Amino acid sequence: MGDNNKHEMWKENSLDLLDWEPVIKSSSKVLNYMVEYISTIDEKKVFKLLSFRDYEADAPLPLESKDLDEVCDILISDIILKHSPMNLSPNFYGWAMGCGNPVNIISSIVEAALNANVIGGNQISCIIEKQVINWLRTIINYPTEASGILTSGCTEANLIALNVARNHKDFSAIHNQGLKDKKYVFYASSQVHCSITQSLQILGLGKESLRLIEVCEDFCINTNLLRRQIIADIENGYEPIAIIVNIGTVNTGAIDNIALVSEIAREYNLWLHADAAFGIFGLMLEKFKKYSEMVHMLDSIAFDLHKWMQIPYASGCVFIKDKKLHCRTFTTQEGYIEHSEDWLSDYGISLSRDFKALHIWMFLKAYGIEKLKQCIEKSIDNTWYLYKKLSTLPNFEILCPPTLNILCFRYIGGTADRDANNINKGIVSMLQAQGECFPSGTMINNRFYIRICCMNYRTEKKHIDKLIDLCINATKAIQI
Ligand SMILES: Cc1ncc(COP(=O)(O)O)c(C=O)c1O
Repeated sequence: MGDNNKHEMWKENSLDLLDWEPVIKSSSKVLNYMVEYISTIDEKKVFKLLSFRDYEADAPLPLESKDLDEVCDILISDIILKHSPMNLSPNFYGWAMGCGNPVNIISSIVEAALNANVIGGNQISCIIEKQVINWLRTIINYPTEASGILTSGCTEANLIALNVARNHKDFSAIHNQGLKDKKYVFYASSQVHCSITQSLQILGLGKESLRLIEVCEDFCINTNLLRRQIIADIENGYEPIAIIVNIGTVNTGAIDNIALVSEIAREYNLWLHADAAFGIFGLMLEKFKKYSEMVHMLDSIAFDLHKWMQIPYASGCVFIKDKKLHCRTFTTQEGYIEHSEDWLSDYGISLSRDFKALHIWMFLKAYGIEKLKQCIEKSIDNTWYLYKKLSTLPNFEILCPPTLNILCFRYIGGTADRDANNINKGIVSMLQAQGECFPSGTMINNRFYIRICCMNYRTEKKHIDKLIDLCINATKAIQI
């Protein structure tokens, strides 16, 4: 359709259409395309290199309206077809990424169409978020009196929790006058995620306020060293504020001993926070019951829904046991947004908020929690399958047995230690570029490891077999 027809479809001086039929027609076309795309994902390369030029990202700003169907064709040819499946693919094992789910394709349509701003008040969107928060509280086994809020991810959730933690000892002074010359310090294992450091930097505490405590052989925090550091800091005039435990470290999936750390926190009157980005959902399984029974000891907990729960990006959650303190820290009641009862925006950073609760509501209504448990069990089984197969192969060194869904290993066949890092980096780059599987890598104790994170419910044992074959082939190719 040419420029002459551009006003036939769109109402003048409006974003609406004269007739809504094209919306139904075009969205059905895109939906059919996406269903075909996702249902054949196993046949697609997991990653394709794409340059700025391949996409013509420097194309000029569109000035005039276009026919919707024409735009949908461009959407398919220029965006969807050029997109790398990455985290959707069963052959993707990088970092810690969820792959979404078919049910939330439908809730995404409704979310965009309703365009609800989930700030507060008695709207259905706010009520659904509160219901979802209650369900999540049950899933993670956290006390009923705790407050919770959905966030954009675990980074924001950690930031919210650490803001409340920072203020907990001297609320009025910190809240009103700021840090001044406070010498606050925080504690976490050396395996803690960088979002914790970033949160402390945003809170004006600086990187050095985080004491990184060495880990034991199992990559869990060494509690003797933790206690020693707290004592030394107090003797040197610092004020310890909080300890952060990991429920699933990003490198190896290690779970810190919450009960032991909690004793230390109580002894020194410290806030106890957990970064449980993906690990929290592992705790639903019977074999991790001992950890799930420790979750109530935490003053706060942050986790993601877009990782192991497979909710679309960007979706996380934070719970704070002291609801009053949580609300006091974030409430911004001003004249134009004065309100009497609980408003969701009083518990987080954003005033305007999206309706991501709808995705979680729809997910739980459609699948139920047992289905998620089965998927999580499968991810852990796949990780153990990989561990057992690799253990039988010469020339591969495994860092440690898996706790949850992550395994780190490296090729050590006949090379000096100095070269092993480069060889393993080369293997990861080669596999990523080939696009048949996608591992990522990590540096631990100055050694580079190939890191496999089994987060995707589409991954079956045949994919793990393929991964091992591709790794072996890469070790051969890289040494020629
Ligand atoms: C342990 C851990 N904490 C925090 C984060 C940050 O989460 P997000 O990317 O959702 O902000 C991640 C991300 O991978 C993580 O693995």
